[in-house]
Amino acid sequence: MAKYKIALMPGDGIGNDVMDAAKIVLDKIGLDADYVPADIGWEFWRTEGEPLPQRTLDTLKACDCALFAAITSKPKEEAEAELVPDLKGKGLVYRSPIVRLRQAFDLYVNLRPCKAFKGNPLNYRDDLDLVVFRENTQGLYAGVEFHPLPTEVRSVLEKHSPRMAAFEGVPSEEIALSTRIFTREGCRRILRQAFEYAQEFGYPTVTLVEKPNVIRETSGMMVREARKIAAGYPGIELWETNVDAMVMWMVKNPQDYGVMVASNMFGDIISDLAAQLVGGLGFAASGNIGDSFAVFEPTHGSAPQYAGKYVANPTAMLLATKLMLDWLGETETAKALQEAIAEVIAEGKVRTYDLGGDNGTLDVARAVAGRM
Ligand code: NAI
Ligand code: MG
Repeated sequence: MAKYKIALMPGDGIGNDVMDAAKIVLDKIGLDADYVPADIGWEFWRTEGEPLPQRTLDTLKACDCALFAAITSKPKEEAEAELVPDLKGKGLVYRSPIVRLRQAFDLYVNLRPCKAFKGNPLNYRDDLDLVVFRENTQGLYAGVEFHPLPTEVRSVLEKHSPRMAAFEGVPSEEIALSTRIFTREGCRRILRQAFEYAQEFGYPTVTLVEKPNVIRETSGMMVREARKIAAGYPGIELWETNVDAMVMWMVKNPQDYGVMVASNMFGDIISDLAAQLVGGLGFAASGNIGDSFAVFEPTHGSAPQYAGKYVANPTAMLLATKLMLDWLGETETAKALQEAIAEVIAEGKVRTYDLGGDNGTLDVARAVAGRM
């Protein structure tokens, strides 16, 4: 039996192209692993009414981790319209399979390293090494939302918060409510992961990105827990920032930062900014990590206009593969892969269209594999 069992979920569009690139590199690495293909994406929504079939969840449960590429998703009406005739009008609702994966496996860390590779013409600066830890399961994206505001909810809010006076007289149909729920352990576990990472990889600071001066209870809880956890890491300094100022500093002096940690929505925002500073979608990979399972992915989507043309930049997918190797404990191999990617970028001979080149997806994969 192989040491690892890894699910491969190419998904839709260029997801298939970049997954083929990852396979070339994985073949070259020769990891002691069984690779198990798993269904996810639009085709399964259309034909089965389910973009993340139960059989995929079962496969994932039997695997150590998964590599996922990209899927297509569409707004409600369009999604319904594309179902096969037998499934139309049954009240099926499309739900993001990524969000469901995060919930089903409690993948509470969204890890997004954004390192500028030397020679990447898309870098904002060449000296950036940012690593975002975004809480992945709670906060504003947990989906506890109301519209219209139910009468019971409204009366409880009015009873417990004097601030509700601001909405007196507004009909409940005219009020929408999205909640931002944090738990203490939810704060602690993302903070712990950020500090552990900073310690392991030698970052001198951890920057907490919140807004405690305004969002007193949730952001406040995050700050209080961060101070307690920071006390256990004397060699690492905790920097506390407000999210609005932080995006300004990330544009002004991004080289000053390293590990950053934030709740779900703020982390989402700063991780897109961080990614753009080092070349954008073609270079942005992320890990969705829990205590016993993880899913690694490029953050780009299925770019349908390029599907099957093998022109997409596979670097993000290869960096996702690198994150997976790190998580599996294959540190040396992960490092070798990162170095091979860096060399190919620095050399600048094999480049996809987004870097001004005319090489294809698999050319880049072969160039990287050739250096390992
Ligand atoms: P997208 O990320 O698929 O593409 C946006 C643009 O970025 C593309 O048109 C292309 O010019 C460029 N691009 C993306 N990846 C690239 C790569 N590897 N190399 C070179 N250029 C690249 O986002 P878009 O167009 O907004 O969405 C397309 C579909 O993907 C939609 O159905 C959307 O819902 C879905 N999507 C899925 C995601 C996921 O699977 N995690 C994330 C974002 C969007
Ligand atoms: Mg993706």
